Amino acid sequence: MRTPLCDLLGIEHPIVGFSPSEHVAAAVSRAGGLGVLGAVRYNDPAELDQALDWMDAHTGGRPYGIDVVMPARVPAEGTPESLNRLIPEPHKTFVQDTLLKLGVPPLPRDDEPGDGQAGDDRAGDGVLGWLHSIARQHVEVALAHPARLIANALGPPPPDVIARAHERGMLVAALAGTAGHARRQVASGVDIVVAQGYEAGGHTGEIASMVLVPEVVDAVGGQATVLAAGGIGSGRQIAAALALGAAGVWMGSAWLATQEYASTTSAPAVTAAVIAATSSDTVRSRIYSGKPARLLKNRWTDAWEQPGAPEPLPMPLQNLLVSEAHQRLIRSGRPDVVPMPAGQIVGRITQTRPVADVIADLVTEADQTLEKLRKLR
Ligand SMILES: Cc1cc2nc3c(=O)[nH]c(=O)nc-3n(C[C@H](O)[C@H](O)[C@H](O)COP(=O)(O)O)c2cc1C
Repeated sequence: MRTPLCDLLGIEHPIVGFSPSEHVAAAVSRAGGLGVLGAVRYNDPAELDQALDWMDAHTGGRPYGIDVVMPARVPAEGTPESLNRLIPEPHKTFVQDTLLKLGVPPLPRDDEPGDGQAGDDRAGDGVLGWLHSIARQHVEVALAHPARLIANALGPPPPDVIARAHERGMLVAALAGTAGHARRQVASGVDIVVAQGYEAGGHTGEIASMVLVPEVVDAVGGQATVLAAGGIGSGRQIAAALALGAAGVWMGSAWLATQEYASTTSAPAVTAAVIAATSSDTVRSRIYSGKPARLLKNRWTDAWEQPGAPEPLPMPLQNLLVSEAHQRLIRSGRPDVVPMPAGQIVGRITQTRPVADVIADLVTEADQTLEKLRKLR
């Protein structure tokens, strides 16, 4: 199964694997896909630099990408202290009361910073990766490494970032939830549009992949490469994405129960929750970041749906509000409260496996499906 994406990115299989873990991202690249490391968890850009040094040494010379979070409009910018003053007291009280009701212990007094996996950011500092100023520093770090691709989670990156990435020979990708987003991204100079459907883990729009992907393919009209994202976890789904006109797939949730993900702090609870989850066990909510994102549904997300629960705040205030709570929920090690982006495809994940095995199965099943379809008359 080769598509033009393979030549564009210099990869064997048209599979892009996003992960907040450098171990997963590197394994995807080594297995012939393109691993993309999520930068948002790095409060300190120097730590991102170290993670990319590690990627440079562990991808076996294969290409990889990096994903930053730069919202088009940020409602507030400042230090955690100054932003904290913008958070209403009733919101803080709700979070504390909910943690108490759920029996989630406080952080140890001499708490060391976590390893910053998605959702386990250091208390009070977790907001930093979501600030435009820090995302800009992430870009500077990324541009200093031999990454093949820089992606933005929330629309096209600013024009100067696109221009500088192109000067360095890097491709630029952006996630789109509507055909209109895709058109604007292409007009901005984005090379790869990731059409991300409602089913996806993380930030997601309201249109399902089956409808969105061909809409985006037609809207882009060959001016950019289109990848399908959201709900992809098998070779049959990859074949379907290609049938819808995509040149490849971008996957996130499928790696949450991989052996490589086990090196992250949140892994025991996340892996157990993902393996137990059905496709009904996710929820699209603003409680994670202030923008709609699909998460594992559990007692923490349920609490925010109860009568009397406050409306989530805009980005980045919501992330600051729940930052310490996320750390506590993850440290509790409990699958019934872990705060984690995850898509509906978790219903198909039933065991922990190495990334290379997941990719080998995806490729085999996609090839078999394409062969089967070719025989249809
Ligand atoms: C744990 C997790 C964290 C994510 N964080 C980000 C992120 O920081 N930036 C981003 O562009 N997408 C993020 N996403 C979304 C993925 O990049 C990808 O678009 C999505 O997972 C695709 O849908 P799927 O989950 O159905 O495979 C995240 C997804 C997951 C599961």
